[in-house]
Amino acid sequence: MAASQGSSDTPVNIDALLQETRRFEPPLDFVANANVRDATVYQRAHDDPEGFWADAASRLDWFKPWDRVLEWNAPWAKWFVGGQLNASYNCVDRHTKTWRRNKAALIWEGEPGDTRVLTYRDLYREVNRFASVLLDLGVRRGDVVAFYMPMIPELAIGLLACARIGAPHTVIFGGFSAEALRDRINDSKATLCVTADGGWRRGNVIALKDVTDAAVAQCPSIEHVLVFQRLGPDVREVAMEEGRDIWLHEAAESTTRRVVEPEHMESEDPLYIMYTSGTTGKPKGQMHTTGGYLTGVSLTHEWIFDLKEDDVYWCTADIGWVTGHSYIVYGPLANGATVVMYEGAPDFPDKDRFWALVEKYGVSILYTAPTSIRTFMRWGPRYVEKRDLSSLRLLGTVGEPINPEAWIWYNEFIGGGRCPIVDTWWQTETGMIMISPLPGVVATKPGSATLPFPGVEADILDEAGQSVPTNAGGNLVIKRPWPAMSRTIWGDPERYAATYWKRYPGLYLTGDGARRDDEGYFWLLGRVDDVLNVSGHRIGTMEVESALVSHPAVAEAAVIGASDAVTGQAIIAFVTPRGGYTPNDALTAELKEHVVRSIGALARPKKIYYTAELPKTRSAKIMRRLLRDIAEGRVLGDTSTLLDPNVVAQIKDQYEGNEG
Ligand code: PRX
Repeated sequence: MAASQGSSDTPVNIDALLQETRRFEPPLDFVANANVRDATVYQRAHDDPEGFWADAASRLDWFKPWDRVLEWNAPWAKWFVGGQLNASYNCVDRHTKTWRRNKAALIWEGEPGDTRVLTYRDLYREVNRFASVLLDLGVRRGDVVAFYMPMIPELAIGLLACARIGAPHTVIFGGFSAEALRDRINDSKATLCVTADGGWRRGNVIALKDVTDAAVAQCPSIEHVLVFQRLGPDVREVAMEEGRDIWLHEAAESTTRRVVEPEHMESEDPLYIMYTSGTTGKPKGQMHTTGGYLTGVSLTHEWIFDLKEDDVYWCTADIGWVTGHSYIVYGPLANGATVVMYEGAPDFPDKDRFWALVEKYGVSILYTAPTSIRTFMRWGPRYVEKRDLSSLRLLGTVGEPINPEAWIWYNEFIGGGRCPIVDTWWQTETGMIMISPLPGVVATKPGSATLPFPGVEADILDEAGQSVPTNAGGNLVIKRPWPAMSRTIWGDPERYAATYWKRYPGLYLTGDGARRDDEGYFWLLGRVDDVLNVSGHRIGTMEVESALVSHPAVAEAAVIGASDAVTGQAIIAFVTPRGGYTPNDALTAELKEHVVRSIGALARPKKIYYTAELPKTRSAKIMRRLLRDIAEGRVLGDTSTLLDPNVVAQIKDQYEGNEG
């Protein structure tokens, strides 16, 4: 253990560090060996973005070269037009043609401690077998396959098998409820759902198959359910519906193809759909395509994480989110990396589980979320100090703005003061990291994601569309198309155009606020729309409100995010009960459960307050801003536009009364 990591007896004085050190230069020994050592890449990419991205695309294997790098007819982009390739071929086959065939592709550990290591050759065999099963089940190019799975190798294998045969996949995070799963399957019109008899989380079984059964009962497009046996009947018996449900291990046993030739996909063919929350109750299916997406995630993964052949790379996200797609599966495997994958919770059996994994597998690159770092801070350094973390050489974060305290703690206690930190800003829509340091050439400042990636042009605009002055806040936009961008919202191109491209015509609206300092560094300020970020999970206030008002006791609901020391934001609901219902603890518990049933545990409100009326403007718009002011104890802003100014005072009294 590095001496500079400190110990619980001699704690690092974070306050002092925050005062003294605002800027971290990349360590010299790191710079000397970094993949990108030369800041001229920024200028080169700026001067000729298409040439820059074409160079990047050459890192992939193409069956047919592209004719045109970019067709841009805002907001519709096509990248590497005319080119043909296959994502599964690029992530698997091509590595088996080199010495990498015996390199570990996936090092997996289950929560109970069981392990599996798959070399690229193993991955090749498994992906082919899975693809053969898909063909046996009648899945063909263009059919959508849904996944509702624990974090097990078969999830990655299944995605690559879909990519192999040209079937777009849509992964629904295992924490979503049956209703949420049903809605996403129905929107995507998936014909197959892949799930498991369960998974492990904090020593408990997650009953994924039961949830799937409840969901697919209302999904007319689903023909089959393919079930991976993670637990086995001794742990949990699951019902299998004759004719519809098939065990993956039985299907794999009886399938006959050894090899499934990878489909030659057009560069713009869909690779996957990823649902994400927006400002309405209906989640948006972001469609990502093949050539541009793979180019973007592969290049950013190599440069931002400074990937070397012998690195052991661990991204702690779940494959149910875009981070897992881009930086567990497609980016790292396209680059031939060794990827660690872990099934369970960070505090099982004890709070040092992550550090035990780093020590055991010699993880050298760790990519995690600020909410996790804050949790580790709260648990205290003794769980870290038990373990040898000297293999780490680079750290990353994603999901929300990282507060400088957490950044410094990460740097000191996890990185031993020697690992550059890459704070990576991006979104489900952007597909790839957009703002982040390049660790060899960009000095970091705790709390800033620093600079746009080469070839990415970002700006911060005021309401009139002018660039804001230094340090002033505004709307973060992206001014040029980039290869991994979402191409549309599945089945709803008008919504795609209206949500992202209308506010400033021809520019991509991120929905995030930001400011830029005197060195041009970007500081992200959080969402400017009605989207919450709870533990790095994106949840629309409207989704939670729709869930609440679907309960018979609720007449009206307004949901806001209040700052929370661990989860970033916490969900606070203000509810007007219907006549005949009395607010009490039982109703509160029931409403919280109702939201969990409608969306999933990730959307459980932390607090519910009852009010006879919600504050509204004269045009009947709920003033969430005022509710946020109340929840965060701020002086109330202008209330003169309210229909009934007394309402706020009443809510405030109640809120403050309940707080105590
Ligand atoms: O508000 C930003 C925040 O997360 C949002 C995107 O959420 P999602 O699509 O679920 O993707 C999460 C993982 C890519 C953004 O609009 N966000 C993500 N990373 C950062 C961030 N905010 C500040 N700094 C970051 N590094």
